[in-house]
Amino acid sequence: MSDNDKQHFKTREVHAGVSPDPVTGAILTPIYQTTTYVQESVDQYLEKGYSYSRSGNPTVTALEDRITALEGGAGSLCFATGMAATSCTIMALAGSGKHAIFSDVVYGGTHRISTKVLNRWGLECSFVDTSDPENVKSAIRENTTLIFTESPANPTLKLTDIAAVSEVAQANGIPHVVDNTFLTPYFQRPLELGADITLHSTTKFMEGHNVSVGGSISAAKKEHLEQVMFVRNCLGSNMTPMVAFYTLQGIKTMSTRLEAQSANALKIAQFLETHPNVDRVCYPGLESFPQKELADRQASGHGSMLWFEVHGGVEAGKKLMDSLQLWSLAENLGSVESLVTHSVTMTHADMPKEERLAAGITDGLVRLSAGLETAEDLIADLKQALDGL
Ligand SMILES: Cc1ncc(COP(=O)(O)O)c(C=O)c1O
Repeated sequence: MSDNDKQHFKTREVHAGVSPDPVTGAILTPIYQTTTYVQESVDQYLEKGYSYSRSGNPTVTALEDRITALEGGAGSLCFATGMAATSCTIMALAGSGKHAIFSDVVYGGTHRISTKVLNRWGLECSFVDTSDPENVKSAIRENTTLIFTESPANPTLKLTDIAAVSEVAQANGIPHVVDNTFLTPYFQRPLELGADITLHSTTKFMEGHNVSVGGSISAAKKEHLEQVMFVRNCLGSNMTPMVAFYTLQGIKTMSTRLEAQSANALKIAQFLETHPNVDRVCYPGLESFPQKELADRQASGHGSMLWFEVHGGVEAGKKLMDSLQLWSLAENLGSVESLVTHSVTMTHADMPKEERLAAGITDGLVRLSAGLETAEDLIADLKQALDGL
């Protein structure tokens, strides 16, 4: 056990991976803005660990070490975007002639890369309701080399029982990758529940301030880490040192932001439940959440994502989104600014309609990402928009 493992989560968030700069004493790891690294001699090549910034960079390494200290596992890798993390991981573990199983509800970009790009290179993909581990078991074929779940899923918040699906994956020798973007390691640690890889769009809660896009994976096994690292280097999907620097600063307050944003989300969900112009509210912290027992069992918090359906369907939903003033209509989530998104026309626009509806992504679904503003102000803005319908 390293010293990092013995410290509490909030201490690791602030300190892991970073120590004062050996040359200047700077408290923050500098932005190592460099392409290359001068080697001592041919015989001492790579002695300091770096050759070229596509393969590795010290600012990015500091962030990777911090993420490992939070997620656990053998190590982490950072990427240019969350989608780069997803693509490199799928490409490393599954390929031509192979078969991959995905949750039927995943981020729209994950669905798009699988069905519109990787399929062209011979990867077969099945989208199944992973909320029942039996569905995963029956979808496994002889050539299945990857199980990819997202929990809670974007945007419906459907949960996968991570421990149960990991057990199925392990019994069949198939790596299980979990997109943990919505809850972060503060609330949910898939590697501790038996998953092989946990993945993030660091764009969201990790960086948290709408400043940068990035991605990460953490792997339980060194073997998987090396496979994904090889693909990252081949594709050139590494995170830049500037983004790693921003993310290193943002992540220091991740748990504090999540606590406050989740408290806001609960208050907002409770308010929405009482409004006559709201037909349905979904938030894992509400007693009415369909998978409440699982939500409480596998995570220590419920996050800041919620959704609702407005009475009056799509037109009423559009009117509501246009009348909000404090909430910004924008594609992102997990930031300190509260955001509202119409998933059907924004994040999941490329998903075929029948598949989307079957997965519960309805036309009237309004997705909220509760930020750090005062809950009463956020509720007042929603109230004026709902009252006006
Ligand atoms: C759950 C989830 N995973 C992955 C991604 C992709 O991340 P990025 O936008 O950083 O490429 C997103 C983006 O919204 C997401 O919501």
